[in-house]
Amino acid sequence: MFDKLKPQPEDKIIKLIGMYAADPRDQKLDLGVGVYKDASGNTPVMRAVKKAEARLLESQDTKKYVGLLGNLDFVAAMGDLVLGDSVDSSRVTGAQTPGGTGAIRQIFELINMASPDATVWISDPSWPNHEAILKYLGMNIGKYRYFDDATCGVDFDGMMADLDGVAEGDVVLLHGCCHNPTGANITLEQWGQVTDLVLSKNVMPMIDFAYQGFGDGLDEDAEGVRYMAARVPEMLVAASCSKNFGLYRDRVGVALALCKGETTLTKGAMATLNRVNFSFPPDHGATVVAIIMADPDLKAEWMEELESMRTSMLSLRTGLAEALRRETNSDRFDFVADHRGMFSRLGLTSDQVDQLRETHGIYMVGDSRFNVAGLPADGLDDLAKAVAAVL
Ligand code: LMR
Repeated sequence: MFDKLKPQPEDKIIKLIGMYAADPRDQKLDLGVGVYKDASGNTPVMRAVKKAEARLLESQDTKKYVGLLGNLDFVAAMGDLVLGDSVDSSRVTGAQTPGGTGAIRQIFELINMASPDATVWISDPSWPNHEAILKYLGMNIGKYRYFDDATCGVDFDGMMADLDGVAEGDVVLLHGCCHNPTGANITLEQWGQVTDLVLSKNVMPMIDFAYQGFGDGLDEDAEGVRYMAARVPEMLVAASCSKNFGLYRDRVGVALALCKGETTLTKGAMATLNRVNFSFPPDHGATVVAIIMADPDLKAEWMEELESMRTSMLSLRTGLAEALRRETNSDRFDFVADHRGMFSRLGLTSDQVDQLRETHGIYMVGDSRFNVAGLPADGLDDLAKAVAAVL
């Protein structure tokens, strides 16, 4: 049987992890996969997470199953974190999932179950796994322009022109904040225009919300999503706790559905999809999040640490933009300071990206996406010199 298998297309982010690990050089810099790193290059367990884990270890007296939808306190807390008071919570239902990717997968399956002919429109470019999962599921994929290489900002006219082609019942996938891979984000006013389009075309908005708190702040990052949620009849959100709670390997995510009114059918479908795909979602990380969100002191501690992660990424952005300005004698890279989130693309060719890796041991994704949190605070000049050298 196995000889019938075909080689699978490689995910460029996963491939880079392997290449970096295999590089024997001492002087190497990993700007690939989106994992937060502190000034010493470590990805620490967040303080509030450690405390909640200790509490859980102490108090947990059984490992029996929780439920197909997971920890419902967690699901409700995530609904609040994402949607705030923009909607009546009785219209929201959700399922705990293994990570944000699990939430995306379950939501695509829900769309496929309800509306198998719908086209899911993703930004061009987008996180590569959006397209990979849709292809694997055999679903229809549409792409809308998103990034303007000349301005390094959002090509909003192109985006709206392409979205004019959506058909009733299609799905438009948006990044809630901190667009991956570009770091360029639509403004609140533009969220308003996309909301008008969603309403006039009668399409389903789906939000990938993997970086809440990494851009302008927890509430600020949710402004566009909440604006839209308050106005549309239905919406889907895939949220992740990998980054903002640093729970990467514990796989903590949630698929949320905002319904017109009654949530029973949607909730039942989500429970069935969990059952047929993996049955009960992994509990540990989600319960840790539920503990943090229910305790005002732990929540405040978590928010404080998240805020310091956010501001350190912002200062790395400013530092890199300044170093690149000095080393290249141009303002070509000033956009790095204006973008938000964990990533931006430097706008280098794939040959230049290869040269950075081969000659300087600097690893970024082939489209020149780099992980802002991986930037070395005391090595920005060297990095900028290397970039200038390959230009
Ligand atoms: C990334 O884009 O680097 C992260 O979302 C991690 C991943 O799974 O690709």
